[in-house]
Amino acid sequence: MTASISALLLDWYDRNARDLPWRHPPGAALPQDPDWPYRVWLSEVMLQQTTVAAVKPYFAKFVSTWPSVEALAAAPEDDVMAAWAGLGYYSRARNLVKCAKAVAERGGFPGSEAELRKLPGLGDYTAAAIAAIAFGQRAVVVDANVERVVARLFAIGDPLPGARKAIRAATSSITPDRRAGDFAQGMMDLGSHICTTKAPRCLICPLADPCEARRQGEPERLPVKPRKKPVPERRGTAFWITRPNPSDGGSEVWLVTRPGTGMLGGMRALPDDGWSARADGSGEPPLEGEWRSLGAVRHGFTHASLTLAVLALETGETPPGEGQWWPLARIGEAGLATLFAKAAALAMAG
Ligand code: ADE
Repeated sequence: MTASISALLLDWYDRNARDLPWRHPPGAALPQDPDWPYRVWLSEVMLQQTTVAAVKPYFAKFVSTWPSVEALAAAPEDDVMAAWAGLGYYSRARNLVKCAKAVAERGGFPGSEAELRKLPGLGDYTAAAIAAIAFGQRAVVVDANVERVVARLFAIGDPLPGARKAIRAATSSITPDRRAGDFAQGMMDLGSHICTTKAPRCLICPLADPCEARRQGEPERLPVKPRKKPVPERRGTAFWITRPNPSDGGSEVWLVTRPGTGMLGGMRALPDDGWSARADGSGEPPLEGEWRSLGAVRHGFTHASLTLAVLALETGETPPGEGQWWPLARIGEAGLATLFAKAAALAMAG
């Protein structure tokens, strides 16, 4: 049975694999292109918590701007953060730069899961995915799609996250020695297109026969999710500070770079009242003056829902602290994280 599950899945993948810009065709020999592991790594980091559709344009932009890991390692971090803007989970971009530097320094990606795992910011999932997909090693790759397929295939009914150990062991029991990368990507495709969270399409599933949850009925019940904690509501204020630019008759807005490794750390942003560090914001505006309220924008993070009020001031003064005047006509190139891009859109509409 074990051999036949991987054979069924690989046979299905050979006929149904999605054609994605970071993939090679199913069953083909591994590409000899020296930048191939780089592309696999980059795609896997981008695809964490993010859909294939959202990743595609970012992947294209990154590989055309930085075609190799050495090019990315040499890029100014600000440029990488700006190119990542809109993709979310910005710690991934900071780790990307660190990891690229380490890989460039050692002369390329290591080919084993254990060595990959030692690279900065590279976790269990990514190490297994790169070992299997880029280097053809046997590695057990479990993302949320694979988790769902396997929980159903073996009718693992314990709630997550406790069920992860059993899901991993079951995934290992069906991972083939050869084509582990195709197998992993086939399981991901099956999870995203057929073995979907709601209304799985069991009638066209290549694994319907051996699927224990299907035999028992109600496969959509699995995996059992932990009860969601309600996310806290947060409030904050962003400051839209503009000045006329006499040299071209346009206006400029004051932008800062968010510090370090905290929320949206390293991203270009509007100055704000410190809502991310203090529960209620409550920091003072950076300049005194007649502030105008422009309304508020809302944004959902994984751990909180934020309502960000936007206050505006037209001024001739430069606020204290580090920052830069940025031409409004080029605000789209500033690399603002989505939250601040929403605030900017509100300010520019009003
Ligand atoms: N999600 C994460 N990695 C993926 C891949 N290689 N193909 C499709 N979806 C994915």
